[in-house]
Amino acid sequence: MLETDHFLDIDDLSTDELHTVLDRAAAIKAGADDTRLPDQTLGMLFEKPSTRTRISFETGMTQLGGHAIFLGPDDIQLGHGEPLSDTSRVLSRYVDAVMARLFDHEDLLEIAEYSDVPIVNGLTDDAHPCQTLADLLTIEEAFDGFDDVQAAWVGDGNNVGQSFVIGAAMVGLDLTVATPVSYGMDDAVLEQAAALGHPPTIVDDPKDAVDDADVVYTDVWISMGQEDQRHEKLAAFDGYQVNERLLADSDAQVMHCLPAHRGEEITGDVLESDRSLVWDQAENRLHAQKGLLVELLDA
Ligand code: CP
Ligand code: NVA
Repeated sequence: MLETDHFLDIDDLSTDELHTVLDRAAAIKAGADDTRLPDQTLGMLFEKPSTRTRISFETGMTQLGGHAIFLGPDDIQLGHGEPLSDTSRVLSRYVDAVMARLFDHEDLLEIAEYSDVPIVNGLTDDAHPCQTLADLLTIEEAFDGFDDVQAAWVGDGNNVGQSFVIGAAMVGLDLTVATPVSYGMDDAVLEQAAALGHPPTIVDDPKDAVDDADVVYTDVWISMGQEDQRHEKLAAFDGYQVNERLLADSDAQVMHCLPAHRGEEITGDVLESDRSLVWDQAENRLHAQKGLLVELLDA
């Protein structure tokens, strides 16, 4: 069992607990762990769309012997004015845990405040810690651990990047971050990584991040809810595309949380190349979240 009541960002886990979840996920993936969660139900609250998060959580609960309920924005009274606090208290009376994908991170904190069952962050505008679990599992598998692995984050300092920065610091993964100046990570995230003793190196030029990297990670430039910033963001990210030219002097493998916008943050040929870890990374959402659910819910 984990000490934390909720999984709102990756550092709700201690470093030991993070390794425990990753080890559990690897054991589940290898078929060596048959822990089940019979009769347990996960409520899945979505304000934004999802392919991987929805399907991996729902499939994961089925495979663990439990059940998941999809609660989309138009499916429940939350979308028709019922307050988050009421929704959260009522859900607590029915389900064993809630996974929530929301816009505002503050709303996630409010749900957690009113919940008697664990709340799992399935992505907010600020953080995507379930993605980080899968990312770290993927790197651990590909490089047989985190020692001497050099990672690069190239592109937007967004929710996926912010949780990855903290997760990387927790496992001691060396990370260089290249973002346009106006689209960097939040100061609080960088301070948290520093407090964990492993802050990322920040550079402006993506070439400086990727040349010595073993793995290069990127994500969309225009996240869900930022569609009105499309014009200015496309201009700001000129030069940050992960393409064969950027990687010309690098043997790095490539990660992307998906969905990818081919021709924007990454080219189709890189995404489809032998460098690409993205399909393993996507699969690992399932195993990583099963590891998390078992650690959160198995008494
Ligand atoms: N990576 C990820 O969270 O994908 P979805 O938006 O499809 O869930
Ligand atoms: N940064 C992206 C991640 C999608 C999984 C977004 O928030 O839209």
